[in-house]
Amino acid sequence: MDRIPIIAGNWKMYKTTEEARAFIGSLASHVGPERRVLLGVPFTALEGAVQAARGSRIEIGAQNMHDMVEGAFTGEISARMLKTSGVSFVILGHSERRQLFGETNAFIHRKVVRALQKGLLPILCIGELLQERESGKHLDVLKLQLEDCLHGVNAEQVVIAYEPVWAIGTGKTATPEVAQEVHAFIRAWLGQKYGSSSARKISILYGGSVKPDNIGALMGQDDIDGVLVGGASLEVEAFVKIINYRVES
Ligand code: PGA
Repeated sequence: MDRIPIIAGNWKMYKTTEEARAFIGSLASHVGPERRVLLGVPFTALEGAVQAARGSRIEIGAQNMHDMVEGAFTGEISARMLKTSGVSFVILGHSERRQLFGETNAFIHRKVVRALQKGLLPILCIGELLQERESGKHLDVLKLQLEDCLHGVNAEQVVIAYEPVWAIGTGKTATPEVAQEVHAFIRAWLGQKYGSSSARKISILYGGSVKPDNIGALMGQDDIDGVLVGGASLEVEAFVKIINYRVES
């Protein structure tokens, strides 16, 4: 398999610049070439995090951006601002952005296109709500998110993160089998759209209450290529355990 496992942290609205520097300083020596380690940090800590990560293998990214190049968008941040701050990736369409800030697939699509144009790796998040899963509509919801957010995009340049909304911050992880079923569905969709050789190259991450004790079983699934970790990415010790997971099958 040619996909290097990706362990991505999503710090959400946690950590000042100093806290970010200290975290990265402790983490750096634990990150080797076998796994790609990414940290999505708050805007204010980006430059400090980029500096602290210099010379290590840790990649620094943002958790959001606006789709426009520049303009009268009070409080917003552009792709170019991120790029010139030295970040390499951006998390887009996280369910908290969708739910709490009203982001639509159309808006997220424009952000994906802009991120690629400016040389940032988009991590596109998709995921269904609990009622969508309970009513058996989750695959339709996910398909629509993929279709709308990747329209006209070369998906080989994107990382996809499947995060069932009911599993985020709740302690309820999808079982490895439930996650695998959706990941296989996403891979099949990518295969139909882009061809199977492209689909095999695209990394699909799982997110939602990933912890040191469930990562091994998740990573044992064929179509889970990495994880997007919220809560457990805030403590160095837990995050290092996640990075150093051993596959359980
Ligand atoms: P969690 O968050 O690991 O705290 O559930 C995951 C995410 O929101 O990306």
